[in-house]
Amino acid sequence: MRIDKLLANMGYGTRKEVKKVLKTGIVQIDGEPVKDAKAQVKPEEQVVTIHGDVVHYQPYIYLMLNKPKGVISATEDEEHETVIDLLAYEHALFQPFPVGRLDKDTEGFLLITNDGKFSHALMSPKRHVTKTYVAVIKGEVTDEDIVAFNEGVVLDDGYLTKPAHLKILSQAAISEIELTITEGKYHQVKRMFEAVGKKVTELKRKAIGALELDSTLKLGEYRELSEEEYELLMERD
Ligand code: URA
Repeated sequence: MRIDKLLANMGYGTRKEVKKVLKTGIVQIDGEPVKDAKAQVKPEEQVVTIHGDVVHYQPYIYLMLNKPKGVISATEDEEHETVIDLLAYEHALFQPFPVGRLDKDTEGFLLITNDGKFSHALMSPKRHVTKTYVAVIKGEVTDEDIVAFNEGVVLDDGYLTKPAHLKILSQAAISEIELTITEGKYHQVKRMFEAVGKKVTELKRKAIGALELDSTLKLGEYRELSEEEYELLMERD
């Protein structure tokens, strides 16, 4: 594999950052300095060091799942099927876990990984990674709701939500909306609509940050993230 990929996967920064580190000449493969980001390395056989410190290779996986309803966002459950049960053996053996959670009755984009740093970076409230949902709402969603969500609404436990961007896709007794939020409180979208007297009847996550769910993935299907997609998620704003 490429040295820049190995270092980025091991948490030494994004591919761009790792490229800069390589240019400084502090990275060695089997004692030889390597500056070329494209240089090939066999991590199982060769010793990679940064400033003399050995880089311990542990393969990470990053999966994009189109979660169906009825499965839970956990690694194990005695009663219900979990998102990990949807994975092929070749992926499950990496012992991955879901990045955050979607409710049992929510569909859509769920990331699954075994990289704790990646998961932490996406979940950290400091990074404000956006999550975009589409939903069917019982009740007429109005321009007042757009304003209320933008200013923040008070949830049932007294929490004032951060500004959220609400777009009305269709407006009637049953409405369709798109909502982008920057936080992930328990049942957040459902509780935000409850705060304005409406009820979410269908919920699907369509994007995390700038990355959209691959529309070719059917419910229950998943695929590995491309390097570009990984970078897109890890880019700092
Ligand atoms: N908000 C919810 O209410 N449920 C989810 O699954 C995700 C966001």
